[in-house]
Amino acid sequence: MSSQIDHLLDESRKFPPSAEFVAESIDDPALYERAKADREGFWGEQAREMLHWHKPFTQVLNWSNPPFAKWFDDGDLNVAYNCLDRHVEAGLGDRVAILWEGEPGDERRITYAELTEEVKRTANVLAELGIGHGDRVAIYLPMIPEAVISMLAVARLGAIHSVVFGGYSADSLRSRIDDAGAKVVITADGGYRKGKVSALKPAVDQALSDRHGEGVQQTVEHVLVVQRGGNDVDWDSERDIWWHEAVPAASAEHEALAFPAENPLFILYTSGTTGNPKGILHTSGGYLTQAAYTHKYVFDLHPETDVFWCTADIGWVTGHSYVTYGPLANGATQVMFEGTPDSPHPGRWWEIIEKYGVTIFYTAPTAIRSFMKLGRQIPQKFDLSSLRLLGSVGEPINPEAWMWYREVIGADKTPIVDTWWQTETGAIMVSPLPGITATKPGSAQVPVPGVSIDVTDDDGNKVGNGNGGLLVVTEPWPSMLRGIWGDPDRFKATYWEKFEDKGYYFAGDGARLDEDGDLWLLGRVDDVMNVSGHRLSTTEIESSLVAHESTAEAAVVGAADETTGQAVVAFVIIKQSYLDAHSPEGLVAQLRAWVGEQIGPIARPRDVYIVGELPKTRSGKIMRRLLRDVAEGREVGDTTTLADTLVMSTISQQVK
Ligand code: WT7
Repeated sequence: MSSQIDHLLDESRKFPPSAEFVAESIDDPALYERAKADREGFWGEQAREMLHWHKPFTQVLNWSNPPFAKWFDDGDLNVAYNCLDRHVEAGLGDRVAILWEGEPGDERRITYAELTEEVKRTANVLAELGIGHGDRVAIYLPMIPEAVISMLAVARLGAIHSVVFGGYSADSLRSRIDDAGAKVVITADGGYRKGKVSALKPAVDQALSDRHGEGVQQTVEHVLVVQRGGNDVDWDSERDIWWHEAVPAASAEHEALAFPAENPLFILYTSGTTGNPKGILHTSGGYLTQAAYTHKYVFDLHPETDVFWCTADIGWVTGHSYVTYGPLANGATQVMFEGTPDSPHPGRWWEIIEKYGVTIFYTAPTAIRSFMKLGRQIPQKFDLSSLRLLGSVGEPINPEAWMWYREVIGADKTPIVDTWWQTETGAIMVSPLPGITATKPGSAQVPVPGVSIDVTDDDGNKVGNGNGGLLVVTEPWPSMLRGIWGDPDRFKATYWEKFEDKGYYFAGDGARLDEDGDLWLLGRVDDVMNVSGHRLSTTEIESSLVAHESTAEAAVVGAADETTGQAVVAFVIIKQSYLDAHSPEGLVAQLRAWVGEQIGPIARPRDVYIVGELPKTRSGKIMRRLLRDVAEGREVGDTTTLADTLVMSTISQQVK
């Protein structure tokens, strides 16, 4: 990590916003002052300004039972009403909410009035299927408007959605459905991916298939299926319902009832340091307040004229907060795209920006780095002059990629907001405000007004400017996670126990404060990897590898990768009988495919090395640090705590 820090410290360029940008910007330095003077009062104002409350709240924050926060607790609201009906009632029904582009090039333009109607019909269908307050609905869909419609229909009923990324396997889907006890699953026959239909429903069928003897109670009663791919699917007529038959036939009248601010809104599973994904729980009033507030000020939103595009899939928190909830709560117009950046040609994203006149573009460093590799002549073929602001999220953005993003995509003039946050934080926590902050390539810089962040040593002492340590959130914030679904102890142990006496939230990220007090994020400090901006657990992949019949032991590390930030590298010990009967190449290919099937293609290791032993301490702990040295082609570090100090030289040999 130290070479990375030295490298970052060489970075001293600064880019203040242009006078033109500042003149039009809604960002106001008074936000910082107001939040500093009275943090809770500030959030109360934001909640009232951003949202419609059916019943106003009288108390902003109840922190009497930390770490279980209650925000705006005695207020009532309906999240879907805030994203839909109120805009229509304000006369904005004809404004386009979603400019959707399918992978094959088909298009749908959906106004706020149309979206509201669709959500009302869908809410009626779900209600008929028995979904009401507090029930869980799993959503396993491609990037089609029905994904947003489903989320809002669930929210409208006061029920809880659990969106599962469409790239996850049947097994991953099953464990998420079981953990949440979902009653309904919403899916599609298939979606388009790289020019072909990729089926989704078979994974749902498999996830719900009979598990005789496993003792698991099947909670799912119905599956609502969108027809998108047109592929043949198996059909269970008792259980399965076509969306295109049920939704258009349902009534377009549906009154949004008010629910308490702390009503759960969604569960979203993310990888932790153990093998079991955790169901991060978010609630309504605080979450929506901060999602809307950050979407407005971090992206300097002018809802009448801007065309916003966040490229994240709905299956990640970025899709929740900056495709569904933030933009729609703010009455924005946004692009939604089903496909991948490079299909059918490597300029597809830039073509879409030109076509729809995108003004604000929000994506991940890994995508930027892949485009960098392909060369600037690809984006240069398109007219990107509509862009006025760029955003980055999901992993540290290296200064080279930041500069390329600004120069090549942003015509050397657009501000870039590097936004740090997490599934757990619900919304952006650290970011420049583009109309105010002079940005620095590679630094996320400052907490947004109302959020309190610091960097501490292992004991919770603030390190001060010029030093590195652990990133902590020192005060509760409105969109903070309210828990881990069904596991309050894990919630406390994972995030709050480390700095219990101080009451700080432990984020799991290393960070450094420069001499100006700006934050530089340095990556995870735990056994969590970040591959292309997606969080993966080393333990989860290790469990998957050892679940394969050929594997005796496995260790997984995240190794630096030019394009994906980190890449999954696995070291496995193969049982002798398999070594005798199979070629190493065949075993490696089998294991890579196996992990892809078990967890999902994003978890498939870049490299699998077959080794004879793993480096362990005397107490049997695998020293992943040493394996990372090997995976990154470095001199292997200090091996003195190993039980057998010769192991590493053997491994280095075997890997060569
Ligand atoms: C982890 C959270 C936030 C939505 C996407 C990922 C890393 C996120 C940044 C950034 C450096 C970042 C952190 C964090 N991360 N944004 N701007 N700079 N690192 O959500 O899957 O919950 O992952 O992503 O390591 O802890 P997530």
